[in-house]
Amino acid sequence: MYLIKKAEQLTGPIYLMDVEAPRIAKHCLPGQFIIAKIDEKGERVPLTICDYDREAGTITIVFQIIGASTERFAHLKAGDSFRDFVGPLGKPSELCTDDLEEVKKKKILFVAGGVGTAPVYPQVKWLHEQGIDADVIVGAKTKDLIILEEEMKAVAGNLYITTDDGSYGRSGMVTKVIEDLVTEEGKSYDVCIAIGPMIMMKFCCLTTKKLNIPTVVSMNPIMVDGTGMCGACRLTVGDEVKFACVDGPEFDGHLINFDEAMKRQQMYRTTEGRALLKERE
Ligand code: NAD
Ligand code: FES
Repeated sequence: MYLIKKAEQLTGPIYLMDVEAPRIAKHCLPGQFIIAKIDEKGERVPLTICDYDREAGTITIVFQIIGASTERFAHLKAGDSFRDFVGPLGKPSELCTDDLEEVKKKKILFVAGGVGTAPVYPQVKWLHEQGIDADVIVGAKTKDLIILEEEMKAVAGNLYITTDDGSYGRSGMVTKVIEDLVTEEGKSYDVCIAIGPMIMMKFCCLTTKKLNIPTVVSMNPIMVDGTGMCGACRLTVGDEVKFACVDGPEFDGHLINFDEAMKRQQMYRTTEGRALLKERE
């Protein structure tokens, strides 16, 4: 059993938890994920690691209620436990495993959309700890849905916040901010890492392709076993079929077939939505 040390509602449907998992906390790196399961019959939910404390032996996860399983997660309190908490899964972010001297030469832009701010945070923090300050764009629908603002401010070089409705920070979607920074504010970047909803990552990639900025995205398709056995998380990347759980979750965004990935995710949404309605009956 994996003890929940802290459970808090960050805002609206978004929750944060610190979970005691010393073995994962000892070995994980930014970019990797865990799969959590409440009980024997519970669904396996993949979540990207938001933070880790090697000394305390804890992993921080952030999730949004999108279906029956995540709604059950939201009811858990400090002192409750997960039956399974498996990880670290997937490959760490390349920025954290590449030659540090080469990474230091790069101008890096992170683009975080909504809950995608959670997986962006450990990467920006890790780079900051190595003396590299990356620029970060955080986008949310509205002011109330911005998460981890103070934490991000403490580790980002420049933090650009934007809301779709203009209620806080800049106004408009993250893609507009990328364009504005590069075409109007004289910024240039060697690499962009975009993490958020698939539709956001798709449009970020279209924008960065136009601006000639190589782009990495973190894919979160349907996952079942998380170990490359079931094929549920398959994606088309260039001419190849890849499994997000073992080959990713990060991939060259300019090679991803987003339309296919979104179609598969939509099928899953319907199933999850039905389960949520059933649970609420
Ligand atoms: P959201 O729908 O509020 O979007 C967040 C931001 O993304 C928006 O404010 C906007 O700036 C940008 N965006 C959205 N659509 C866009 C478009 N068409 N063009 C350009 N920019 C666009 O985000 P949310 O509700 O927090 O997202 C939840 C989704 O994110 C869930 O489906 C979840 O699975 C996914 N998610 C993905 C990851 C990952 O690792 N990729 C991590 C966490 C959550
Ligand atoms: Fe089964 Fe990736 S989740 S192969």
